[in-house]
Amino acid sequence: MNILEVEHLKIWDSLTGRILVTDSSFHLSQGECLAIVGESGSGKSLTCRALLRLNRSGLRQSGDIILNGINLSGLPEKEMRKLRGNRLCMIMQNGMRAFDPSRPVGAHLRETLAVHTPWSRSERSENVKRAMESVGFNDPCAVLARYPHELSGGMLQRVMIALAIVLEPDILIADEPTTALDAVTQFEVVEQFEQLRSRLGSSMIFVSHDLGVVKRIADRVLVMKDGEIIEQGETGEIFSSAQHPYTRYLVSSKMALQRHFRQLMGGDGVAEG
Ligand SMILES: Nc1ncnc2c1ncn2[C@@H]1O[C@H](COP(=O)(O)OP(=O)(O)OP(=O)(O)O)[C@@H](O)[C@H]1O
Ligand SMILES: [Mg+2]
Repeated sequence: MNILEVEHLKIWDSLTGRILVTDSSFHLSQGECLAIVGESGSGKSLTCRALLRLNRSGLRQSGDIILNGINLSGLPEKEMRKLRGNRLCMIMQNGMRAFDPSRPVGAHLRETLAVHTPWSRSERSENVKRAMESVGFNDPCAVLARYPHELSGGMLQRVMIALAIVLEPDILIADEPTTALDAVTQFEVVEQFEQLRSRLGSSMIFVSHDLGVVKRIADRVLVMKDGEIIEQGETGEIFSSAQHPYTRYLVSSKMALQRHFRQLMGGDGVAEG
């Protein structure tokens, strides 16, 4: 069963008329992890944000986004807000921008949970504490009392992952969740995602430049280039017998580069599976 179906998604800049994502169609089935790969500027983040209708107002989108049979394209903003965080949860590429700079990160978490869960105050803080510990914070309360600028990009990323763990969304969209992290934390975070999936059966869209991670956790891969999906298929097929020359180039060059980098760093980093 498909939990999400995207049909003919198009995104353009209303000011210049430039088309940024062209006629994108893909689906996500229940419990599946779909990776989106492709070079910088190929439209991965725009696509993810379009699913939640979170792109900047100057950008327009058309096409159908069907979540569990409901077409989100025609949904009023109020309904969309209810879905975000509850059914669809996104971990942004830039952790800093996801938080209100004028308040401690804990305030953001408490507010989000108050809106999206029926829990009491003490249940909320207990669940947040446990999730924060599970993403590697030994002293969750101290972290929650800090302002976003007082935390590193990697820490903010982990706070967002903790929030996603607490919210247990139907679909988790993670836009390069490990890019800002060091190798050890990266490994732990990828493990978190795997656990989240096996524990909750969450469906996931995972954007990453790290093809080693993609190979390890994705069931299917979607390859984007210049705003277009040029290929999609089972992970094994994409890595061993891609049809499109660009995919073959991406797989061979990136894997070689990452191997080289890990050798230089004197370790394996995230296993290539
Ligand atoms: N708010 C915006 N207004 C106009 N153009 C934009 C806007 N945001 C992104 N773009 C353009 O859309 C294209 C796709 O951007 P997007 O952020 O989706 O790329 P990406 O694949 O996520 O890249 P990266 O791997 O670097 O994160 C780029 O050419 C970018 O310049
Ligand atoms: Mg991006």
